[in-house]
Amino acid sequence: MTSTEGRTLKISVLRSDPNIKDYKVHVETFEVAEAPGMTLFIALNEIREFQDNSLKFDFVCRAGICGSCSMLINGQPSLACRTLTSTMDEHIMLAPLPLFELIGDLSIHTGKWMDGMSERLQTWIHTKEKEQVDISRIEEKMEPELADEIYETDRCIECGCCVAGCGTILMRENFVGAVGMNKVARYLIDPRDKRTDEEYYSLVGDEDGVFGCMSLLGCEDVCPKELPLQSKIAYLRRKMVEMRNK
Ligand code: SF4
Ligand code: F3S
Ligand code: FES
Repeated sequence: MTSTEGRTLKISVLRSDPNIKDYKVHVETFEVAEAPGMTLFIALNEIREFQDNSLKFDFVCRAGICGSCSMLINGQPSLACRTLTSTMDEHIMLAPLPLFELIGDLSIHTGKWMDGMSERLQTWIHTKEKEQVDISRIEEKMEPELADEIYETDRCIECGCCVAGCGTILMRENFVGAVGMNKVARYLIDPRDKRTDEEYYSLVGDEDGVFGCMSLLGCEDVCPKELPLQSKIAYLRRKMVEMRNK
């Protein structure tokens, strides 16, 4: 018998609906009988299925892969599908991730923010100008260590937790966040990307990029994929300083 067996969870959700004029934002508390291995995602589904089908929250993969179930769980940005209720007290507070467009209740539009950031930082491989992509050409060999390093940065699921966990964005609304810097670092180390130093510098060599980061460290603390964001940001900062001093 586990110490959590037989508990009745009290799940308090910050309810809101920006589409309804004069909707009064409020906290609503639901009671759910805890089951073994229950995740917050399962608990929320039970609420939606048996208590209130108007409750809004997002999920796709239920396995920590798609990044859509991110929310504030007891004040901390995290993924609902990867959070076991047994790791928490009976009373759980849920709220939508701040800074992203609110759809309603726990549902937010992270995709819109991520698309804007990706467009701005051009997070795709840039070949030489006018270079034709010859799909029959065999790609140049890459050292396994470098491939691993690129793969490591590509594990980002764009959940937005690092953005919500960073105080800098409250002061600089165009700050690219750890997710953006991690992506730029990813292309900078990729030998297939042919962008020049100047081009890279123009992307993140300013206060909305690496020089705006105040090393608050919250991003790495809350990243559900445990990405080494601090070392990526430090690497990018060193590169930008080198480029600036050239
Ligand atoms: Fe989420 Fe981590 Fe990617 Fe930030 S860096 S979006 S916290 S997976
Ligand atoms: Fe923010 Fe992370 Fe920098 S929390 S200030 S991006 S170290
Ligand atoms: Fe995909 Fe949680 S549902 S990460």
